[in-house]
Amino acid sequence: MPRPIIIDTDPGQDDAVAILMALASPELEVVGITTVAGNVPQPLVTENALRLVELAGRPDVPVYAGARRPLLRPLVTAEEVHGPTGLDGADLPPPRTAPADGHAVDFIVEACRRAEGEGITLCPIGPLTNLALALVKEPDIVEGIREIVVMGGASFEGGNTTPPAEFNIYVDPHAAHVVFTSGVPITLMPLDVTHRALVVPDQLERIRGLGTRVGDAVAGMLDYYERHDVEKYGIEGAPLHDPCVIAYLLEPAIFTGKACHVAVETSSELTMGTTVVDWWGVGGGTPNAVVMRDVDADEFFELVIDRLARLG
Ligand code: RIB
Ligand code: CA
Repeated sequence: MPRPIIIDTDPGQDDAVAILMALASPELEVVGITTVAGNVPQPLVTENALRLVELAGRPDVPVYAGARRPLLRPLVTAEEVHGPTGLDGADLPPPRTAPADGHAVDFIVEACRRAEGEGITLCPIGPLTNLALALVKEPDIVEGIREIVVMGGASFEGGNTTPPAEFNIYVDPHAAHVVFTSGVPITLMPLDVTHRALVVPDQLERIRGLGTRVGDAVAGMLDYYERHDVEKYGIEGAPLHDPCVIAYLLEPAIFTGKACHVAVETSSELTMGTTVVDWWGVGGGTPNAVVMRDVDADEFFELVIDRLARLG
């Protein structure tokens, strides 16, 4: 039986690769995609998610529009990284389909309540606003959630938005606090591991060499997306942050990490949105997340390109 998941996303080129991988993977059932303001605002993130399900030939997967801003703080976006469209480099046509009726938060609540067996897996790869709203609106939904696999946070790596904070958590730290204190099993993909999941030039050429609409779109997106981080960090290629979430669901053994207590800073402006990861267990807090710190980068990329190659 395929594993039912919801992808909560703010597309974003790296979100796009994660969504395409998931839609190409028979091991997963993407029961819905929910969008959240982040990399770019609403309604653009929703339009981008629709563009991506159409690119994948999967217009059957419903896309629900979600939060337009964080719980308490003003929205911070990242056009300097992703471009004004959020998917710069892809040149995808406007979506032909419309978002599904209803709000993303209500869809998440209903999907968790309907979940059978082990429950549904939530895959937030943007700010955590929608998940927090669902958990606050209907706390009982935790019973239907198997696991939350989050792309966000940073520990030893440092931040990408402020010195200590990573973008997804920084944008809505109060939402992140709600998720990390929910009691639901969490697997965290922080920058410590995603900065090791780079697409280096010869790998980018392999994606371009697929010779498919998906390969061309992804190569174009990564050509655009990599310039910011290559210059900022002096690294060889673009970090595929969000695809780490999907890769973990498909091949967990390529990742290494450990159970830690994770708390989110929501008071100090200087450290707002920092994920305080107690890696050495010195704080006495009960571990509430498995925090990943390393990945087999070659295996990771082979998984990425294998799934992209399955799409036309
Ligand atoms: O910090 C990286 C994260 O922020 C990724 O999810 C990227 O898409 C942006 O949302
Ligand atoms: Ca994202």
